[in-house]
Amino acid sequence: MRTVKTAAQLRAAVSAWHTAGETVAFVPTMGALHAGHMALLTAARAAARRTVVSIFVNPTQFAPGEDFDRYPRREEADAAMLADARCDLLFAPELEEIYPAGFATHVRVAGLSDVLDGLARPGHFDGVATVIARLLALVGADVALFGEKDWQQLQIVRRLASDLALHTRIQGVPTVREADGLAMSSRNAYLNAAERAVAPRLYAALVEMCEWLRAGRPGAIEAARAELEAAGFRLDYLALCDPESLTPRDDAPGRLLMAGWLGGTRLIDNIAV
Ligand code: PAJ
Repeated sequence: MRTVKTAAQLRAAVSAWHTAGETVAFVPTMGALHAGHMALLTAARAAARRTVVSIFVNPTQFAPGEDFDRYPRREEADAAMLADARCDLLFAPELEEIYPAGFATHVRVAGLSDVLDGLARPGHFDGVATVIARLLALVGADVALFGEKDWQQLQIVRRLASDLALHTRIQGVPTVREADGLAMSSRNAYLNAAERAVAPRLYAALVEMCEWLRAGRPGAIEAARAELEAAGFRLDYLALCDPESLTPRDDAPGRLLMAGWLGGTRLIDNIAV
């Protein structure tokens, strides 16, 4: 695996592959890689001949007071994992490579960015959309892969790629979970032992709500909310929504999405109903 830090090196590598008739898949990440990220790489390898992974902890998607400074950074371990998994190219840019002096363009996907996590984290999705628009343009891949774990992000990226007529196809990848159901996340490292023991209840509640909703039994969301709050979660939202537009729905089918705090750690998860 080659590691490059500049856009020029990245472009040269990708255009050499394209000239040779090889397809390219791209997986953007913020590093601290785990099995969820690696599932995206596996899907990338199945989708194209060559794979590019980026690691960039994007400051513009963190609000002041959020965890940008303490976000886990493990560059060497990440590079070793990617090399083992036969990734072709790691793009690990410095801040100035993504946001050079004079950078003034901001991408905002209206509507989809203003609900759920967008309400809880104002400005977050504008930072995501801006960096993803730039990364997709820099890499010029045939396909880019995003996890369903960040369902709202996936819908925003799909909208952005469609609205800006980008040439990169967007592909979603199902959520990878720990054996006890907890969705893998770089932020799980923040949980202490007691919080880690309670954390799987989030997914258990989603599965239970899904069964109630499917059976048309009323009160599913209210019951789950009470149960999770009793277990120590402080919920930001818990809602059944249309999977693409994210508008609220009263009945199945839909996507059940939730976000909540366990101590100082914010966890999100979602499932199809
Ligand atoms: P990050 O949290 O590092 O996640 C990178 C990609 O991995 C995202 O597409 C995310 O949905 C996916 N992912 C994370 N955990 C997963 C899991 N348990 N199962 C499947 N996929 C999982 O999301 C971001 O970074 C950033 O917002 C980014 C898109 C890179 C823009 O900065």
